[in-house]
Amino acid sequence: MKTIGVLTSGGDAPGMNAAVRAVVRKGLYHGLKVMGVSRGFAGLINGEFQEMTLSSVADIIQRGGTILRTARSEEFLTLEGRATAMEQAGKSGLEGLIVIGGDGSFRGASCLAFMGLPVIGIPGTIDNDIPCTDLTIGYDTAVNTAVDAINKIRDTATSHERVFIIEVMGRRTGHIALAAGLAGGAESILIPEVEFDLDQVVEKLQYGWRRGKLHCIVVMAEGVGTAMEISQGIQKRTNADTRMTILGHIQRGGAPTALDRILASRLGARSVELLLAGESNRMVGIQASQIVSIDINFALRQKKPIDMSLYHLAGVLAT
Ligand code: F6P
Repeated sequence: MKTIGVLTSGGDAPGMNAAVRAVVRKGLYHGLKVMGVSRGFAGLINGEFQEMTLSSVADIIQRGGTILRTARSEEFLTLEGRATAMEQAGKSGLEGLIVIGGDGSFRGASCLAFMGLPVIGIPGTIDNDIPCTDLTIGYDTAVNTAVDAINKIRDTATSHERVFIIEVMGRRTGHIALAAGLAGGAESILIPEVEFDLDQVVEKLQYGWRRGKLHCIVVMAEGVGTAMEISQGIQKRTNADTRMTILGHIQRGGAPTALDRILASRLGARSVELLLAGESNRMVGIQASQIVSIDINFALRQKKPIDMSLYHLAGVLAT
């Protein structure tokens, strides 16, 4: 194997740059030519390749976003789009491709592997919703960003004795909400994986007020509905002064935490080793601190459960 490519796809996640850096530098270390593909699968279709050097990934380990840019490509969902992508890969001599992204990107990666291009996936998404890996790149940073916001909102919530509904990202999952809610000491955490009853949520808040709590923070995952609905539901039941904050895309930006940088470096390096070992259609991940590799299609058929012990713990500690 002489030439490999690397691309980032789907929503960006802090730590993607650290993963690109690791792929490029590990590839160069083994004497490979490494091509950066711009704008994900769209760039693959359009032949947007650039040869990467040691210095093209200098000074990026600490930067959020992705220097390769990213996109969600409609064209790649078509057979023609994928065929063009394969042609372009062939033309530029790619003998392997590393795809950094979420589950949609992994499905795309798997199609290319099926068409004959060796592909390895690196899980990069703030949502932490990829099965078979304890963590995805960007999740830890997003959780820390959310916790920082919760801390700030708590100050004003206490001063005004208000209820705050804080909506965090996570698509259909509650990983970010659960971790940020537990670390931020939220009074209530609403996630799509656990059905909730707003009357019970309110009962718990009222119990807190009776014992002198000044503020009340409800962290909700975007997958359970809108902050407006929850906020109005609580206000109607309690008459409390209620506000809401939607954290939105600030969770996707910013300097990656050390944990994300280390994870990205380890996963990036392993993905190159896998290509060199002749592997394809596999994703890298971390399980109990060990870097592992798993068949992508197997992984995509699994479910990524919420850690219910954390959910119960958060409930006990928030009383
Ligand atoms: O998958 C990452 C994510 O940030 C989700 O948490 C969120 O639902 C979605 O992407 C937002 O996508 P977009 O940036 O396209 O609005």
